[in-house]
Amino acid sequence: MTTKTINHLLTLEELTPSALDDLLGLAAEVKRQPEAFQSGLAGKKVALLFEKASTRTRMSFEVGVVELGGYPLFLSSSDLQIGRGEPLTDTIQVMSRYVDALMIRTYAHETVETLAAAGSIPIINGLTDSHHPCQVLADLLTVEEVFGTRTGKTLTYIGDGNNMAHSLMIGGALSGMHIRIASPEAYTVETDIFERANELAATTGGSVTLWQDPVVAASGADVIYTDVFASMGQEAEAAERVTQFAAFQVDAALMQQAKSEAIFLHCLPAHRGEEVTADVIDGPQSVVFDQAENRLHAQKALMLTLLA
Ligand code: CP
Ligand code: NVA
Repeated sequence: MTTKTINHLLTLEELTPSALDDLLGLAAEVKRQPEAFQSGLAGKKVALLFEKASTRTRMSFEVGVVELGGYPLFLSSSDLQIGRGEPLTDTIQVMSRYVDALMIRTYAHETVETLAAAGSIPIINGLTDSHHPCQVLADLLTVEEVFGTRTGKTLTYIGDGNNMAHSLMIGGALSGMHIRIASPEAYTVETDIFERANELAATTGGSVTLWQDPVVAASGADVIYTDVFASMGQEAEAAERVTQFAAFQVDAALMQQAKSEAIFLHCLPAHRGEEVTADVIDGPQSVVFDQAENRLHAQKALMLTLLA
């Protein structure tokens, strides 16, 4: 199976289209019959290290490891010696002697690359400033559940050109989807990630395009997706961003531009009245809690693929 060759999940670029298909197929299977996988990680220890806050990532990984028969270790950087200056490269070499994998949520994306290079266990990116691959595995599983396919579907992401936008571009490109990113000009995605996603899309029949008008970008879409205006670490910019992103709120009028059967996705946490109105996120087109649940199933499939 192609997925066997995956050593880490730092970005979705580690996956081929068929590896992604296998992973999401396994996730659907794990969701359908979780009891069949309850010994899948028997005897395996998974460290979960957080340098930023988390509700979904922390809980879904912790519960996921337990449901697979493994042992999760929740770690906060402020409690470890890295908080007092111990080099990350020493820390990961020590961790590699104790546990079978490390999931980490951190700031600079280079941190996960350093860990992958210095350690000898799989590293799972639980969010960096640049990528959130685990979230997009759940997002793609949700799209597939709703529409029966990902290929050819149009997902319009409205908002900041951040970690979510980057991982959606890559995951969508691998899926043969049409990904439209609508952001204020000063907050668009990173050019090199956009170019790589474009190259990938050319191999799958998908496309990745950048837009400045959210109304035009939403036209005829199957999925409307948004995320917070200010990500973790950008708290000081929050007020300025509310002003800059005022025209990029997902409201009922914007949803009207999409197909009538379109769904609304948000990685959560959400700010009602900022990036999305309450009537949309709490309305009939929103599947955000199915999406959040799918974090659990997708990550169980990921850990089985990396560790079993
Ligand atoms: N979507 C997501 O990663 O949520 P948390 O920040 O709560 O983990
Ligand atoms: N872009 C957000 C995603 C949170 C899940 C952040 O990085 O804070």
